[in-house]
Amino acid sequence: MKALILSGGKGSRLYPLTYTNAKQLIPVANKPVLFRVIEAVRDAGITEIGIVIGNDENGRRVQDAVGQGRRWGVDITYIPQDAPLGLAHCVAIAQDFLGSERFVMFLGDNVIEGGISNLIRGFEQSDYDCQIVLKEVEEPQHYGVAELNPDRSIKRLVEKPREPRSNLALVGIYMFNEHVHEAVRQITPSWRGELEITDAIQWLVEQGLNVHPYIHRGWWIDTGKPIDMLAANSKVLEELTPEVQGFVDRSSDVDERVTVEAGAEIVNSVVRGPTIIGENTRIANSYVGPFTSIYHDCVVENAEIEHSLILEHSSIVDVPARITDSLIGRNVELSHSQLKPRALKLTLGDNSRLGLI
Ligand code: TTP
Repeated sequence: MKALILSGGKGSRLYPLTYTNAKQLIPVANKPVLFRVIEAVRDAGITEIGIVIGNDENGRRVQDAVGQGRRWGVDITYIPQDAPLGLAHCVAIAQDFLGSERFVMFLGDNVIEGGISNLIRGFEQSDYDCQIVLKEVEEPQHYGVAELNPDRSIKRLVEKPREPRSNLALVGIYMFNEHVHEAVRQITPSWRGELEITDAIQWLVEQGLNVHPYIHRGWWIDTGKPIDMLAANSKVLEELTPEVQGFVDRSSDVDERVTVEAGAEIVNSVVRGPTIIGENTRIANSYVGPFTSIYHDCVVENAEIEHSLILEHSSIVDVPARITDSLIGRNVELSHSQLKPRALKLTLGDNSRLGLI
């Protein structure tokens, strides 16, 4: 079996972070979401992986970060996409790579509890033409939604329905055999101009092919929005086995659910887990609360922060208010200024969001 990982797209809901980085490279618990997806695929025994990337700067950033896949013992082929024309369009442009083999398609910004080994094994041993993964959600109108028959077979799939007929959303993991290639040739773009994978699967259902719905019971998060990034970060942090490789001084209080990576130092601070402090990051005279990931080469001094994600090379120094529920990008400087007038002095990127107290 092969894997097709989708790592193109605009990532507009995560602006401004995605102006200068691909959203799939944003780390949760200090590891890019895309790396977690590659590991899930590799752990399921798949080594031939195609990655769809944008034909742009973010695509090149993905290629630079992932390379040929040797680090994971896999072989990666990049498939550039000129514009985000839909998930089924990704299948169409990957046809040369996929050939007539069975494959799993995994959205590069999704995180799922427990990996996908069981799903892949189940599909490999079955005669299903396609297997989709469904999850009960509270607001199905934001997802592709599946309506099932009383015998649990699929009746209909609809992309973001105004009035959903069920609460079963399509999770970003799909398994196909060669019939999907005919399906993507048969469908036409939707009202939003995209070739929808739900339409391709609906076509398979209408041809009487065997499309099997698997209902996932664990958590699953699509990291499309900042709030989802924080939710995924919290879930993954809860699963980490904590390890302290960095330095913690005697006057600090660091509980047993905190991971301190190599070269990090914690001085005169309180850190409550689950939390991760990245390589060469310094925490001094500060409080870092639960569900926080601080990536490598950051500084937090005389500050308080919790339930937040901070990316590399950022510094938070002498900040008088506690920071919470925040997503802070790379090379950000947040500090207390002595300069007059006493005022907020901001340099915020386009589409930034700032919640003042
Ligand atoms: P989405 O989150 O649906 O789209 P997006 O990344 O453009 O985000 P936004 O709505 O915030 O602008 O995409 C799901 C995943 O699939 C994501 O990893 C990007 C990828 N993708 C592609 O690779 N090509 C595409 O044509 C589309 C639509 C998505």
